[in-house]
Amino acid sequence: MADKVIPLADHRYASSVPLVPAQSTAPTGLLADTLGRPLRDLRISVTDRCNFRCSYCMPKEVFDKHYEFLPHSSLLSFEEIARLARQFVAHGVRKIRLTGGEPLLRKNLERLVEMLAALRTAGDGLPLDLTLTTNGSVLARKAQALKDAGLQRITVSLDALDDAVFRRMNDADFPVADVLAGIEAAQRVGLGPIKINMVVKRGTNDDQIVAMARHFRHSGAVLRFIEYMDVGATNGWRMDEVLPSAEVVARIAAEFPLQPLGAQQPGETAQRWRYADGAGEIGVISSVTQAFCHDCNRARLSTEGKLYLCLFAHRGHDLRALLREGRSDAEIAAAIGGVWNRRADRYSELRSEAGADPSSAPAGRRVEMHYIGG
Ligand code: GTP
Ligand code: 5AD
Ligand code: SF4
Ligand code: SF4
Repeated sequence: MADKVIPLADHRYASSVPLVPAQSTAPTGLLADTLGRPLRDLRISVTDRCNFRCSYCMPKEVFDKHYEFLPHSSLLSFEEIARLARQFVAHGVRKIRLTGGEPLLRKNLERLVEMLAALRTAGDGLPLDLTLTTNGSVLARKAQALKDAGLQRITVSLDALDDAVFRRMNDADFPVADVLAGIEAAQRVGLGPIKINMVVKRGTNDDQIVAMARHFRHSGAVLRFIEYMDVGATNGWRMDEVLPSAEVVARIAAEFPLQPLGAQQPGETAQRWRYADGAGEIGVISSVTQAFCHDCNRARLSTEGKLYLCLFAHRGHDLRALLREGRSDAEIAAAIGGVWNRRADRYSELRSEAGADPSSAPAGRRVEMHYIGG
């Protein structure tokens, strides 16, 4: 696996510049793809760098000191990101999530948060949810500034409570206490309700499931267990390392009885459960055993300004080229609309239909998680 991987260059994944139609009509907020799915959720990756080396995302053997991350000139500036985000909001996006790599490593991120928070009043008046997924390593220092800049809530990735297991999972010898301090700081400044994401790898951290559940009961935070996914081409994914969500739920319910909850919004990634004793709720994200493509409403903007429609995509659409060749807002919005209208992605469903064999997945180099932000 990892030793077969070719080093990636700047032109790392195939992409094309989206077509700009001759006549650009204004966005209506009512886009639908070929399966009738609206565009509601935009995930923006602000850096491809991370200070962790989680084996399921940035395995050390690949992402070592020779790995070439994107040069600064390739990254979208905050002004470019905000300009694109405004077009997405006009097309109906209701949630913007900043991701990475580790988004809090991007300098002055609060400035971008402030610019995006200003979009709340730019759309049709409907609420815009502004959030961020972080590994929590520098959150204790940054929580207050993020809150002040207008961030509403936050999701922290945390794969174990036990310090030794956590250090093994992040493979950067990072102590769990610092992430827990980050979570507390975020709660203190009101960046809630906080979500905690735990990626479960069978045989590596599945012994942490019940301890994590116990720790976050009564905390107000929503703990979500994520099935280890076959994203990218470097993590050496194997089905036997996936612990199905049904088993996660069974293990927790054996200790703390659970009751199913309905979805809050269409297109959610997580299925929700509540503790029968009122201690809060948990979620499970079952992309492998129960794909949720049928109402997937997410688009992704990479660090260098390529638009990807599926987490498992092979190619992006180069919006940075449109920005840097001086296209108007109307032209850019029309190009984005055209890309969404032609969308037919349903990777996880197709993989399930084909059996869980990753070699049956469509050929081509899939984008890496640290580049697209999940
Ligand atoms: P909320 O808005 O808080 O519910 O967040 P979210 O679940 O949309 O985003 P988050 O960054 O917390 O992602 C949780 C997990 O779901 C991560 O492992 C993501 O990679 C995964 N995920 C998010 N969107 C998709 C998707 O469209 N398809 C698949 N297969 N996985 C996704
Ligand atoms: N499978 C499942 N989740 C993953 N994440 C990163 N890589 C994977 C993977 N292979 C999670 C991170 C973070 C979220 C954005 O995606 O832990 O919480
Ligand atoms: Fe970094 Fe998150 Fe990837 Fe871990 S999962 S290496 S914290 S980007
Ligand atoms: Fe959406 Fe692709 Fe994930 Fe399916 S696999 S839910 S289409 S991002």
